[in-house]
Amino acid sequence: MIPELENRLTLTINGATVHLKNVSPTITLLEYLRNSDRIGTKEGCGDGDCGACTVVLLGQGADGKAHYQAINSCLIPLGAIAGREIITVEGVANGQLHPVQAAMVQTGGSQCGYCTPGFIMSLFAAYYEGTVDDVAVEGNLCRCTGYLPIRRAAKLVANQQPCDRFAEKLTQTTIELPALNYQGNEQQFYRPTQLREVLTLLQQHPEATLVAGATDLGLEMSWHRQHYPVMISLEAAEELNGLEQTPDWVEIGAAVPLSTIEDRLHGVFPSLDEMLHWFAARQVRNRATLGGNIGTASPIGDLPPVLLSLDAELRLASPAGERLIPLASFFKGYRQTDLQPEEVIVSVRIHTTKATGAVTRLSQSYKIGKRGTDDISIVAAAFTVDLDASHTIVQVRLAYGGVAATPARAIAVEEWLVGKSWNTATVQQAKELLKDTFSPLTDLRASAEYRKLLVVNLFEKFFVEMGGVEQYPLEVRA
Ligand SMILES: Cc1cc2nc3c(=O)[nH]c(=O)nc-3n(C[C@H](O)[C@H](O)[C@H](O)COP(=O)(O)OP(=O)(O)OC[C@H]3O[C@@H](n4cnc5c(N)ncnc54)[C@H](O)[C@@H]3O)c2cc1C
Ligand code: FES
Ligand code: FES
Repeated sequence: MIPELENRLTLTINGATVHLKNVSPTITLLEYLRNSDRIGTKEGCGDGDCGACTVVLLGQGADGKAHYQAINSCLIPLGAIAGREIITVEGVANGQLHPVQAAMVQTGGSQCGYCTPGFIMSLFAAYYEGTVDDVAVEGNLCRCTGYLPIRRAAKLVANQQPCDRFAEKLTQTTIELPALNYQGNEQQFYRPTQLREVLTLLQQHPEATLVAGATDLGLEMSWHRQHYPVMISLEAAEELNGLEQTPDWVEIGAAVPLSTIEDRLHGVFPSLDEMLHWFAARQVRNRATLGGNIGTASPIGDLPPVLLSLDAELRLASPAGERLIPLASFFKGYRQTDLQPEEVIVSVRIHTTKATGAVTRLSQSYKIGKRGTDDISIVAAAFTVDLDASHTIVQVRLAYGGVAATPARAIAVEEWLVGKSWNTATVQQAKELLKDTFSPLTDLRASAEYRKLLVVNLFEKFFVEMGGVEQYPLEVRA
């Protein structure tokens, strides 16, 4: 039973409670802040790339406790902030500069100053989280200062033990995301706390749009002014927010933010660790989810190749019940999936050990983009090879993004590899087969020829990195 709709949104900004009536729940937080004269937060790109709009959300961390999380206010819809607390650059000083601001002044970390509020907020979150390093500001661009003074400022505040009102707040706060049933500007925004409510809402509103972290949908709202009549947020749905780990498998809720997965599963799946490291930037990972990355069905989504290489399964739920399907059968065509109307992705299950008879598992992922951090892949690849005691391949998965209409596996090559010895000769022959496995497109980022080369060469790189060179010396590789 879904309660009555309300026409009020409540949020907390810099400690003050704000009540809003009849506002659109799909304007971005940035738009709201700037329209309400909180213009310290800047707009640069409006699509999550520059970090000028960074604010800090008091959110739930991987340990379930309150944490400060830097997020892009240009991507998050106002409805998603309802019932939550944010801190903007106007709220950090308290009679005197905040230590992070003082450090930026001291090192000359600001010239025109347009990017500075964003840097301050990223450093602010990291200061309280004890994570001040380059990764903390990887999602912030500065066009004039140069990064050296900013990195010096970061160094000044790294490893400090904050002891102030913000640090106190973390110890005093428990985060519980309340349900929301909001109507304003002739739009509805729901945030149910149970899966069955999500499914009931989907039945009642077949036209509704599901939203999780909004790092994809946020672009539609920010750039394309997309007007969503009904949105159902998955952020508070209990069943989509679990993370269960057993010796045999791990099940990750579809709405768990990627930064939580990074923290909680670190070391469990090396290929997932590696891809998450290169996935967008901290602000985006604090919001983006696995369900959203799979749900977009983008051929250049970075996590599907990793999940395909690990034989992941999807748990899908609809009013008719649940089903568990291999991710490999989920993608049907360009931006088309097996997801039925009224169905949601509940979780992703990954097996830690497979009943393949393997004694060794080799697994890694690779992302090739035009720049290291915060870029879209030209090609992403993930490989898992299971070997028996005599180095014979018992199972292999070669998965790629950016080379076909969907994330895809090189199934024919995988089948050819099974039963072969994992050695240079085998890899050289597999490379020949991989050459013509995919017919990628030429686009702004890269040519088809370059992508085809990457398909082949990344597999060889994997072989070399996994110890191929040590086991089979270079002269044998010619
Ligand atoms: C600056 C920037 C950098 C980025 N970098 C990368 C990158 O490096 N690699 C990469 O792969 N992507 C990248 N992205 C894209 C985006 O962050 C990811 O696709 C992310 O995983 C989307 O998750 P989300 O929760 O934000 O999805 P949302 O935007 O909330 O939703 C995306 C889609 O999935 C659907 N959906 C969400 N959850 C579910 C569910 N549980 N069941 C069914 N459907 C669902 C929604 O309806 C929507 O259609 C980037 C985006 C930005 C803005
Ligand atoms: S305005 Fe550039 S990231 Fe938001
Ligand atoms: S100081 Fe001008 S953009 Fe950074």
